[in-house]
Amino acid sequence: MTQMIFASQNGRTISKEDKIFGISNRAKAMIAKEGESKVVNATIGALLDDNGRLIVLSSVDEVFKALSPAEYAQYAPIGGIPEFKEAVKKDLFRDFIPKTYTEAVATPGGTGAIRNTISNYSEYGDYVLTSDWYWAPYNTIAQEQGRKLDTFELFNESGSFNMESFSEKVKKLLENQERLIIILNTPSHNPTGYALTDEEWLRVSEILNRESSGKKITLLVDAAYADFAGDEGDSRSFFPILEKLDENVLVIIAHSLSKAYTLYGQRCGAMICMTGHKEIAEEFRRVCEFSSRASWSNCTRAPQVILSRIYADPQLLKKVMDERKEYRDMLIRRGKAFKEEAEKVGLKTLPYRSGFFMSIPCKNPDAVSARLEKEGVFVVPLAKGVRVSGASVPEDVCRRLPAVIKKAIEEADK
Ligand SMILES: Cc1ncc(COP(=O)(O)O)c(C=O)c1O
Repeated sequence: MTQMIFASQNGRTISKEDKIFGISNRAKAMIAKEGESKVVNATIGALLDDNGRLIVLSSVDEVFKALSPAEYAQYAPIGGIPEFKEAVKKDLFRDFIPKTYTEAVATPGGTGAIRNTISNYSEYGDYVLTSDWYWAPYNTIAQEQGRKLDTFELFNESGSFNMESFSEKVKKLLENQERLIIILNTPSHNPTGYALTDEEWLRVSEILNRESSGKKITLLVDAAYADFAGDEGDSRSFFPILEKLDENVLVIIAHSLSKAYTLYGQRCGAMICMTGHKEIAEEFRRVCEFSSRASWSNCTRAPQVILSRIYADPQLLKKVMDERKEYRDMLIRRGKAFKEEAEKVGLKTLPYRSGFFMSIPCKNPDAVSARLEKEGVFVVPLAKGVRVSGASVPEDVCRRLPAVIKKAIEEADK
């Protein structure tokens, strides 16, 4: 941990550089020195084509370029423009029509939704719960707001959702605090590519109903990669299960336009609640808009108009979906290639179903990643393994990587 010189620590652990961006910068420096062909940068959380270039949906780009100055230059209302609020709900739920009350508040990406959920549905000093394999910014966001992150074990020995560990942790944390936020990133979990099955969702909902008695649980479903998990309808099949949750469980879904619309830098997303109570939904809108006002004020207008336009025009919507499907299929092929090859060479991976990332458990993640770096392969070391981005490397590299990683693990463990 670095000591502060002038700034206040405020209980936070602030490292010198963001780990992932640090590795990515080293990869870029190596490319500059040795050439592109010598480096595999499997750290990037954005979809790249086989030549390493950022994929931007041309259908979205066309809408962007057609915006009038007033459409992107004006302030948007704090909670989002009304057409966006409607469009983003349709985008999230698709054919599913919730019977619950739903409210949407625009946020700068899914990140903003996570931030606002923590600020409004937990107390200072509370623990927020997520799985032991998790996206590191959950911890950053919790710390920044004087909360702490605790984890349950994501997988049991047979490689499915560890219901026992989940249930125990929920119970234990609620013995000491009145409310609990639980973050579940599914489908296409970052960093493992896991997705809860509907059966697992049913059991999770039973646990939440049981443990929420006399307490308040907020279930934050981080759906940042929902459109990269096979059929977009199937990947939403768990929504009806969320309607069965008791009144002490509030569902908030963090939705993002970063990946699904390739609008990463536009910073657009939304937090959408599902609740059986009108007052809770109204309160959700009020408190989250308050937090937005206090943090970033209003969100970028251009992507809100873009999504509204897309949903106002069925043909355009189809064009976007079709284009996205092509890239999703490419991503699925890459993941499949990695998985097949890992099985062939005997590399143990975590259960990957879909999405941008695959993870490989190992004892010395930092040492494994350092060894790989020497060979020009850049991955992200995590607490219990290393993460490989299938989103940023072509299929043939996905096939090549398992053997290289296996060798690095064996060497690091010697
Ligand atoms: C698990 C997860 N959740 C949420 C996000 C939020 O991204 P954004 O704020 O760009 O929507 C990301 C982005 O990488 C992510 O990996």
